[in-house]
Amino acid sequence: MGKCKVCSHKTESIMSFGKMPIANGFISSVSDDEFVYELKVDICPACFMVQLGETVKPDMMFNENYHFISSTSLVMIKHFEGVASEITGIISSEKSPFVAELGCNDGVMLQHLLSRKIRHLGVEPSKNVAQLAKNKGIEVLEDFFNSSTAENIVRRHGQADVVCGSNVMCHIEDINSVFDGINILLKDNGIFFFEDPYLFDIVKKSSFDQIYDEHVYYFSGLSISELAKRHSMKLVDMAHQDVHGGSMRYYLKKDNSRVISDRVKELFSKEKECKLHEPDSYTKFRDNVNHICKDLKNTLLKLKKAGNRIAGYGATSKSTTLLNYSGIGPEIIDYISDITPTKINKYTPGTHIPVKPYEFFKTDYPPYTLLLAWNHEKEILEKEKDYREKGGKFITFFPEVTIK
Ligand code: TYD
Ligand code: ZN
Repeated sequence: MGKCKVCSHKTESIMSFGKMPIANGFISSVSDDEFVYELKVDICPACFMVQLGETVKPDMMFNENYHFISSTSLVMIKHFEGVASEITGIISSEKSPFVAELGCNDGVMLQHLLSRKIRHLGVEPSKNVAQLAKNKGIEVLEDFFNSSTAENIVRRHGQADVVCGSNVMCHIEDINSVFDGINILLKDNGIFFFEDPYLFDIVKKSSFDQIYDEHVYYFSGLSISELAKRHSMKLVDMAHQDVHGGSMRYYLKKDNSRVISDRVKELFSKEKECKLHEPDSYTKFRDNVNHICKDLKNTLLKLKKAGNRIAGYGATSKSTTLLNYSGIGPEIIDYISDITPTKINKYTPGTHIPVKPYEFFKTDYPPYTLLLAWNHEKEILEKEKDYREKGGKFITFFPEVTIK
Protein backbone atom coordinates (compact mmCIF):
# COMPACT_ATOMS: atom_id res chain seq x y z
CA MET A 1 0.00 0.00 0.00
CA GLY A 2 1.38 3.43 -0.93
CA LYS A 3 0.77 7.02 0.03
CA CYS A 4 -1.23 9.44 -2.13
CA LYS A 5 1.02 11.97 -3.83
CA VAL A 6 -1.71 14.61 -3.53
CA CYS A 7 -3.16 14.21 -0.04
CA SER A 8 -0.91 11.62 1.71
CA HIS A 9 -3.84 9.26 2.40
CA LYS A 10 -3.19 5.51 1.97
CA THR A 11 -3.77 4.36 -1.62
CA GLU A 12 -5.27 1.10 -2.88
CA SER A 13 -4.02 -0.96 -5.81
CA ILE A 14 -5.81 -0.97 -9.16
CA MET A 15 -3.36 -3.06 -11.20
CA SER A 16 0.30 -4.18 -11.36
CA PHE A 17 2.20 -4.73 -14.60
CA GLY A 18 5.54 -5.96 -13.21
CA LYS A 19 8.96 -4.66 -14.19
CA MET A 20 8.93 -2.12 -17.00
CA PRO A 21 11.59 -0.08 -18.83
CA ILE A 22 11.23 3.68 -19.44
CA ALA A 23 8.56 4.14 -22.14
CA ASN A 24 10.65 6.48 -24.28
CA GLY A 25 13.92 4.70 -23.45
CA PHE A 26 14.72 3.61 -27.01
CA ILE A 27 18.16 1.97 -27.07
CA SER A 28 20.92 2.11 -29.70
CA SER A 29 22.12 -1.44 -29.14
CA VAL A 30 20.29 -4.45 -27.71
CA SER A 31 23.16 -4.93 -25.26
CA ASP A 32 22.56 -1.47 -23.71
CA ASP A 33 21.70 -1.51 -20.01
CA GLU A 34 18.08 -0.64 -19.34
CA PHE A 35 16.70 0.90 -16.18
CA VAL A 36 13.55 -0.84 -14.97
CA TYR A 37 10.96 0.05 -12.36
CA GLU A 38 7.77 -1.57 -11.03
CA LEU A 39 4.77 -0.36 -13.04
CA LYS A 40 1.66 -0.32 -10.88
CA VAL A 41 -1.32 1.96 -10.67
CA ASP A 42 -3.16 2.88 -7.48
CA ILE A 43 -6.14 4.99 -6.45
CA CYS A 44 -6.57 7.25 -3.43
CA PRO A 45 -9.96 6.65 -1.82
CA ALA A 46 -9.80 10.11 -0.19
CA CYS A 47 -9.10 12.44 -3.13
CA PHE A 48 -9.90 9.95 -5.96
CA MET A 49 -6.56 10.50 -7.69
CA VAL A 50 -5.45 7.54 -9.81
CA GLN A 51 -1.65 7.47 -9.82
CA LEU A 52 1.47 5.39 -10.30
CA GLY A 53 2.58 3.39 -7.28
CA GLU A 54 6.25 3.79 -8.13
CA THR A 55 7.66 6.72 -10.06
CA VAL A 56 10.80 7.41 -12.04
CA LYS A 57 13.00 10.47 -11.45
CA PRO A 58 11.91 13.24 -13.90
CA ASP A 59 15.42 13.80 -15.29
CA MET A 60 15.53 10.14 -16.37
CA MET A 61 12.53 10.80 -18.64
CA PHE A 62 12.66 14.46 -19.61
CA ASN A 63 16.18 15.26 -20.73
CA GLU A 64 18.21 16.10 -23.83
CA ASN A 65 17.18 12.74 -25.32
CA TYR A 66 13.41 13.14 -25.06
CA HIS A 67 11.93 11.34 -28.07
CA PHE A 68 8.44 12.76 -28.05
CA ILE A 69 7.85 15.43 -30.68
CA SER A 70 4.36 16.95 -30.78
CA SER A 71 4.37 17.86 -34.47
CA THR A 72 4.43 14.28 -35.81
CA SER A 73 0.70 14.09 -36.46
CA LEU A 74 -1.33 16.36 -38.73
CA VAL A 75 -4.36 15.96 -36.48
CA MET A 76 -2.32 17.07 -33.46
CA ILE A 77 -0.93 20.07 -35.36
CA LYS A 78 -4.51 21.10 -36.15
CA HIS A 79 -5.60 20.40 -32.60
CA PHE A 80 -2.98 22.78 -31.21
CA GLU A 81 -3.93 25.43 -33.73
CA GLY A 82 -7.41 25.14 -32.18
CA VAL A 83 -5.94 25.63 -28.69
CA ALA A 84 -4.16 28.78 -29.89
CA SER A 85 -7.41 30.13 -31.36
CA GLU A 86 -9.26 29.45 -28.12
CA ILE A 87 -6.58 31.36 -26.18
CA THR A 88 -6.71 34.23 -28.66
CA GLY A 89 -10.46 34.45 -27.99
CA ILE A 90 -10.03 34.36 -24.19
CA ILE A 91 -7.52 37.22 -24.14
CA SER A 92 -9.10 39.32 -26.87
CA SER A 93 -10.17 42.11 -24.50
CA GLU A 94 -6.84 42.33 -22.61
CA LYS A 95 -4.39 45.15 -23.41
CA SER A 96 -1.06 43.33 -23.33
CA PRO A 97 -1.97 39.74 -22.52
CA PHE A 98 0.61 37.21 -21.43
CA VAL A 99 0.25 33.45 -21.96
CA ALA A 100 2.43 30.79 -20.38
CA GLU A 101 2.46 27.20 -21.59
CA LEU A 102 3.84 24.41 -19.43
CA GLY A 103 5.63 21.73 -21.48
CA CYS A 104 5.59 23.60 -24.78
CA ASN A 105 7.48 20.79 -26.54
CA ASP A 106 8.51 21.90 -30.06
CA GLY A 107 6.25 24.95 -29.90
CA VAL A 108 3.44 23.38 -31.89
CA MET A 109 0.87 25.59 -30.11
CA LEU A 110 2.92 28.68 -29.19
CA GLN A 111 4.06 29.22 -32.78
CA HIS A 112 0.54 30.51 -33.49
CA LEU A 113 0.70 32.99 -30.60
CA LEU A 114 4.12 34.10 -31.82
CA SER A 115 2.75 34.78 -35.30
CA ARG A 116 -0.12 36.75 -33.72
CA LYS A 117 2.46 38.75 -31.74
CA ILE A 118 1.01 37.66 -28.39
CA ARG A 119 3.38 37.79 -25.41
CA HIS A 120 4.14 34.22 -24.45
CA LEU A 121 6.53 31.91 -22.67
CA GLY A 122 6.96 28.17 -22.99
CA VAL A 123 8.36 26.27 -20.01
CA GLU A 124 10.07 23.11 -21.21
CA PRO A 125 12.59 20.97 -19.32
CA SER A 126 13.57 18.69 -22.25
CA LYS A 127 16.51 20.48 -23.89
CA ASN A 128 16.24 18.96 -27.36
CA VAL A 129 12.56 19.78 -27.89
CA ALA A 130 12.98 23.20 -26.20
CA GLN A 131 15.62 23.94 -28.84
CA LEU A 132 13.15 23.07 -31.62
CA ALA A 133 10.75 25.66 -30.18
CA LYS A 134 13.52 28.25 -29.81
CA ASN A 135 14.49 27.67 -33.45
CA LYS A 136 11.01 28.87 -34.37
CA GLY A 137 11.58 32.10 -32.43
CA ILE A 138 9.41 31.08 -29.48
CA GLU A 139 10.46 32.32 -26.06
CA VAL A 140 11.30 29.30 -23.91
CA LEU A 141 12.42 28.83 -20.32
CA GLU A 142 14.28 25.51 -20.06
CA ASP A 143 13.17 24.34 -16.65
CA PHE A 144 10.73 22.26 -14.62
CA PHE A 145 7.75 24.30 -13.44
CA ASN A 146 7.19 24.95 -9.71
CA SER A 147 6.72 27.93 -7.38
CA SER A 148 10.27 29.24 -7.77
CA THR A 149 10.05 29.01 -11.58
CA ALA A 150 6.71 30.83 -11.32
CA GLU A 151 8.30 33.62 -9.23
CA ASN A 152 11.07 33.99 -11.84
CA ILE A 153 8.53 34.25 -14.63
CA VAL A 154 6.43 36.84 -12.79
CA ARG A 155 9.56 38.93 -12.12
CA ARG A 156 10.43 38.94 -15.83
CA HIS A 157 7.01 39.00 -17.51
CA GLY A 158 4.36 39.79 -14.89
CA GLN A 159 1.40 37.52 -14.11
CA ALA A 160 -0.31 35.50 -16.82
CA ASP A 161 -3.83 35.86 -18.20
CA VAL A 162 -3.75 32.27 -19.37
CA VAL A 163 -1.66 29.35 -18.19
CA CYS A 164 -2.08 26.15 -20.17
CA GLY A 165 -0.54 22.76 -20.70
CA SER A 166 -1.25 19.76 -22.89
CA ASN A 167 -0.11 16.30 -21.86
CA VAL A 168 2.10 17.75 -19.21
CA MET A 169 0.20 18.00 -15.90
CA CYS A 170 -0.19 14.24 -15.63
CA HIS A 171 3.60 13.96 -16.01
CA ILE A 172 4.47 15.94 -12.89
CA GLU A 173 4.68 13.94 -9.67
CA ASP A 174 4.85 16.95 -7.37
CA ILE A 175 1.58 18.28 -8.71
CA ASN A 176 0.98 20.27 -5.52
CA SER A 177 4.10 22.32 -6.29
CA VAL A 178 2.76 22.99 -9.81
CA PHE A 179 -0.49 24.27 -8.36
CA ASP A 180 1.49 26.45 -5.92
CA GLY A 181 3.29 27.85 -8.97
CA ILE A 182 0.03 28.39 -10.87
CA ASN A 183 -1.32 30.39 -7.93
CA ILE A 184 1.72 32.67 -8.17
CA LEU A 185 1.76 32.93 -11.95
CA LEU A 186 -1.94 33.32 -12.72
CA LYS A 187 -3.74 36.66 -12.47
CA ASP A 188 -6.73 36.65 -10.11
CA ASN A 189 -9.09 36.74 -13.08
CA GLY A 190 -6.88 34.50 -15.22
CA ILE A 191 -7.67 31.02 -16.47
CA PHE A 192 -5.64 27.87 -16.18
CA PHE A 193 -6.54 25.04 -18.52
CA PHE A 194 -4.89 21.78 -19.33
CA GLU A 195 -5.64 18.49 -21.02
CA ASP A 196 -4.51 14.94 -20.46
CA PRO A 197 -5.73 11.42 -21.27
CA TYR A 198 -9.09 10.97 -19.52
CA LEU A 199 -9.49 8.18 -16.98
CA PHE A 200 -13.05 7.53 -18.14
CA ASP A 201 -11.83 6.73 -21.68
CA ILE A 202 -8.99 4.56 -20.39
CA VAL A 203 -11.41 2.48 -18.32
CA LYS A 204 -14.12 2.33 -21.03
CA LYS A 205 -11.70 1.21 -23.76
CA SER A 206 -9.42 -0.77 -21.41
CA SER A 207 -6.64 1.29 -23.01
CA PHE A 208 -4.13 0.41 -20.31
CA ASP A 209 -1.17 1.31 -22.54
CA GLN A 210 -1.66 4.91 -21.38
CA ILE A 211 -0.18 3.68 -18.11
CA TYR A 212 3.58 4.21 -18.15
CA ASP A 213 6.35 6.07 -16.31
CA GLU A 214 5.64 9.52 -17.79
CA HIS A 215 1.97 9.42 -16.84
CA VAL A 216 2.12 9.71 -13.07
CA TYR A 217 -1.60 10.62 -12.89
CA TYR A 218 -4.80 9.51 -14.69
CA PHE A 219 -7.17 12.40 -14.13
CA SER A 220 -10.95 12.55 -13.86
CA GLY A 221 -13.20 15.53 -13.17
CA LEU A 222 -13.69 14.18 -9.66
CA SER A 223 -9.98 14.07 -8.84
CA ILE A 224 -9.18 17.41 -10.49
CA SER A 225 -11.98 19.09 -8.60
CA GLU A 226 -10.54 17.81 -5.28
CA LEU A 227 -7.03 18.86 -6.29
CA ALA A 228 -8.23 22.33 -7.29
CA LYS A 229 -10.01 22.78 -3.94
CA ARG A 230 -6.79 21.99 -2.05
CA HIS A 231 -5.22 24.95 -3.86
CA SER A 232 -8.08 27.42 -3.51
CA MET A 233 -9.04 26.99 -7.13
CA LYS A 234 -12.22 25.83 -8.79
CA LEU A 235 -12.84 23.46 -11.69
CA VAL A 236 -15.27 25.57 -13.70
CA ASP A 237 -15.51 23.71 -17.00
CA MET A 238 -14.49 20.55 -18.82
CA ALA A 239 -14.34 19.78 -22.56
CA HIS A 240 -13.76 16.33 -23.99
CA GLN A 241 -11.09 16.04 -26.72
CA ASP A 242 -10.75 13.20 -29.21
CA VAL A 243 -6.95 13.22 -29.15
CA HIS A 244 -4.66 10.69 -27.44
CA GLY A 245 -7.42 8.10 -27.39
CA GLY A 246 -9.75 10.39 -25.43
CA SER A 247 -8.57 13.36 -23.40
CA MET A 248 -10.24 15.88 -21.13
CA ARG A 249 -9.54 19.59 -21.01
CA TYR A 250 -10.04 21.04 -17.51
CA TYR A 251 -10.61 24.78 -16.96
CA LEU A 252 -9.69 26.15 -13.54
CA LYS A 253 -10.07 29.57 -11.98
CA LYS A 254 -9.08 31.09 -8.69
CA ASP A 255 -11.70 30.57 -5.99
CA ASN A 256 -13.40 33.95 -6.27
CA SER A 257 -14.52 32.86 -9.71
CA ARG A 258 -17.78 32.22 -11.43
CA VAL A 259 -20.15 29.28 -11.37
CA ILE A 260 -19.44 25.75 -12.44
CA SER A 261 -20.74 24.79 -15.90
CA ASP A 262 -23.49 22.22 -16.44
CA ARG A 263 -20.99 20.20 -18.43
CA VAL A 264 -18.95 19.61 -15.28
CA LYS A 265 -22.01 18.46 -13.38
CA GLU A 266 -22.99 16.06 -16.20
CA LEU A 267 -19.51 14.61 -16.42
CA PHE A 268 -19.33 14.19 -12.65
CA SER A 269 -22.48 12.04 -12.72
CA LYS A 270 -21.09 10.01 -15.62
CA GLU A 271 -17.86 9.41 -13.70
CA LYS A 272 -19.74 8.47 -10.54
CA GLU A 273 -21.98 6.09 -12.47
CA CYS A 274 -18.85 4.37 -13.79
CA LYS A 275 -17.49 4.36 -10.17
CA LEU A 276 -14.19 5.91 -11.21
CA HIS A 277 -13.70 7.01 -7.60
CA GLU A 278 -14.15 3.57 -6.05
CA PRO A 279 -11.16 1.23 -5.68
CA ASP A 280 -13.35 -1.92 -5.88
CA SER A 281 -14.74 -1.02 -9.27
CA TYR A 282 -11.55 -1.76 -11.21
CA THR A 283 -11.81 -5.59 -11.25
CA LYS A 284 -13.49 -5.55 -14.65
CA PHE A 285 -10.79 -3.24 -16.02
CA ARG A 286 -8.08 -5.69 -14.89
CA ASP A 287 -9.91 -8.64 -16.46
CA ASN A 288 -10.47 -6.79 -19.74
CA VAL A 289 -6.80 -5.78 -19.96
CA ASN A 290 -5.58 -9.32 -19.37
CA HIS A 291 -8.05 -10.69 -21.89
CA ILE A 292 -6.94 -8.22 -24.59
CA CYS A 293 -3.24 -8.98 -24.03
CA LYS A 294 -3.80 -12.75 -24.26
CA ASP A 295 -6.00 -12.45 -27.31
CA LEU A 296 -3.59 -10.09 -29.06
CA LYS A 297 -0.57 -12.31 -28.51
CA ASN A 298 -2.47 -15.43 -29.66
CA THR A 299 -3.75 -13.66 -32.77
CA LEU A 300 -0.28 -12.44 -33.71
CA LEU A 301 1.32 -15.83 -33.02
CA LYS A 302 -1.25 -17.55 -35.22
CA LEU A 303 -0.56 -15.14 -38.10
CA LYS A 304 3.17 -15.55 -37.61
CA LYS A 305 2.97 -19.35 -37.57
CA ALA A 306 1.04 -19.20 -40.84
CA GLY A 307 4.14 -17.52 -42.34
CA ASN A 308 3.04 -13.87 -42.26
CA ARG A 309 5.41 -11.04 -41.54
CA ILE A 310 4.03 -8.49 -39.09
CA ALA A 311 5.19 -4.89 -38.64
CA GLY A 312 4.21 -2.33 -36.02
CA TYR A 313 3.06 1.20 -36.92
CA GLY A 314 4.19 4.00 -34.57
CA ALA A 315 6.86 3.38 -31.93
CA THR A 316 4.71 5.11 -29.32
CA SER A 317 5.50 5.52 -25.64
CA LYS A 318 2.29 3.62 -24.98
CA SER A 319 3.47 0.55 -26.85
CA THR A 320 6.22 0.00 -24.27
CA THR A 321 3.54 -1.03 -21.77
CA LEU A 322 1.52 -3.01 -24.30
CA LEU A 323 4.45 -4.94 -25.78
CA ASN A 324 6.27 -5.64 -22.51
CA TYR A 325 3.16 -6.63 -20.56
CA SER A 326 1.84 -8.83 -23.39
CA GLY A 327 5.26 -10.38 -24.06
CA ILE A 328 5.37 -9.35 -27.72
CA GLY A 329 8.91 -8.96 -29.07
CA PRO A 330 10.97 -9.20 -32.28
CA GLU A 331 10.08 -12.89 -32.68
CA ILE A 332 6.54 -11.69 -33.49
CA ILE A 333 6.93 -8.10 -34.74
CA ASP A 334 9.67 -7.78 -37.38
CA TYR A 335 10.06 -4.02 -37.00
CA ILE A 336 8.11 -0.86 -36.15
CA SER A 337 7.75 1.96 -38.64
CA ASP A 338 8.06 5.49 -37.23
CA ILE A 339 8.62 8.98 -38.59
CA THR A 340 10.41 10.42 -35.53
CA PRO A 341 14.07 10.87 -36.58
CA THR A 342 15.49 10.16 -33.10
CA LYS A 343 13.68 6.81 -32.79
CA ILE A 344 14.76 5.44 -36.17
CA ASN A 345 17.40 2.67 -36.14
CA LYS A 346 16.97 2.24 -32.40
CA TYR A 347 15.28 -0.61 -30.52
CA THR A 348 12.11 -0.52 -28.45
CA PRO A 349 12.59 -0.41 -24.67
CA GLY A 350 12.55 -3.87 -23.08
CA THR A 351 11.30 -5.76 -26.12
CA HIS A 352 14.10 -4.74 -28.56
CA ILE A 353 12.07 -4.54 -31.75
CA PRO A 354 13.98 -2.53 -34.39
CA VAL A 355 12.48 0.85 -35.33
CA LYS A 356 12.70 1.52 -39.07
CA PRO A 357 11.94 4.60 -41.14
CA TYR A 358 8.53 5.00 -42.69
CA GLU A 359 10.07 4.77 -46.17
CA PHE A 360 11.03 1.19 -45.33
CA PHE A 361 7.42 0.33 -44.51
CA LYS A 362 6.28 1.94 -47.79
CA THR A 363 8.48 -0.32 -49.87
CA ASP A 364 7.97 -3.37 -47.67
CA TYR A 365 4.19 -3.45 -47.15
CA PRO A 366 4.03 -6.49 -44.83
CA PRO A 367 0.73 -8.41 -44.91
CA TYR A 368 -0.13 -7.41 -41.31
CA THR A 369 0.61 -4.28 -39.29
CA LEU A 370 -0.08 -3.81 -35.60
CA LEU A 371 -1.44 -0.29 -35.18
CA LEU A 372 0.49 0.73 -32.08
CA ALA A 373 -0.33 4.42 -32.67
CA TRP A 374 -4.04 3.51 -32.39
CA ASN A 375 -4.89 6.99 -31.16
CA HIS A 376 -4.12 8.23 -34.69
CA GLU A 377 -6.18 5.48 -36.35
CA LYS A 378 -8.33 7.80 -38.47
CA GLU A 379 -5.34 9.76 -39.76
CA ILE A 380 -3.25 6.64 -40.42
CA LEU A 381 -5.99 4.62 -42.17
CA GLU A 382 -6.56 7.61 -44.41
CA LYS A 383 -2.84 7.93 -45.11
CA GLU A 384 -2.41 4.20 -45.73
CA LYS A 385 -5.27 3.65 -48.19
CA ASP A 386 -2.80 2.32 -50.73
CA TYR A 387 -1.42 -0.26 -48.28
CA ARG A 388 -4.89 -1.56 -47.53
CA GLU A 389 -5.92 -1.53 -51.19
CA LYS A 390 -2.90 -3.71 -51.90
CA GLY A 391 -4.13 -6.23 -49.30
CA GLY A 392 -2.34 -4.99 -46.19
CA LYS A 393 -4.27 -5.35 -42.95
CA PHE A 394 -4.10 -3.39 -39.74
CA ILE A 395 -4.58 -5.00 -36.34
CA THR A 396 -6.12 -2.88 -33.58
CA PHE A 397 -6.76 -3.99 -30.00
CA PHE A 398 -8.98 -1.54 -28.08
CA PRO A 399 -11.62 -2.29 -26.92
CA GLU A 400 -10.95 -5.69 -28.55
CA VAL A 401 -8.56 -7.29 -31.05
CA THR A 402 -9.74 -6.55 -34.60
CA ILE A 403 -8.18 -7.09 -38.03
CA LYS A 404 -9.20 -4.49 -40.59
P1 TYD B 1 1.81 9.47 -29.85
O1 TYD B 1 0.49 9.38 -30.47
O2 TYD B 1 2.22 10.78 -29.40
O3 TYD B 1 1.78 8.45 -28.65
P2 TYD B 1 2.64 8.33 -27.31
O4 TYD B 1 2.24 9.49 -26.47
O5 TYD B 1 2.20 7.01 -26.77
O6 TYD B 1 4.09 8.33 -27.70
O7 TYD B 1 2.95 8.89 -30.78
C1 TYD B 1 2.76 8.62 -32.09
C2 TYD B 1 3.99 7.93 -32.64
O8 TYD B 1 3.68 7.42 -33.92
C3 TYD B 1 5.16 8.88 -32.84
O9 TYD B 1 6.38 8.20 -32.55
C4 TYD B 1 5.08 9.23 -34.32
C5 TYD B 1 4.47 8.00 -34.91
N1 TYD B 1 3.64 8.24 -36.10
C6 TYD B 1 4.07 7.76 -37.32
O10 TYD B 1 5.14 7.12 -37.41
N2 TYD B 1 3.28 8.01 -38.42
C7 TYD B 1 2.11 8.69 -38.35
O11 TYD B 1 1.45 8.88 -39.37
C8 TYD B 1 1.68 9.17 -37.08
C9 TYD B 1 0.39 9.92 -36.96
C10 TYD B 1 2.47 8.92 -35.97
ZN1 ZN C 1 -5.30 11.46 -2.14
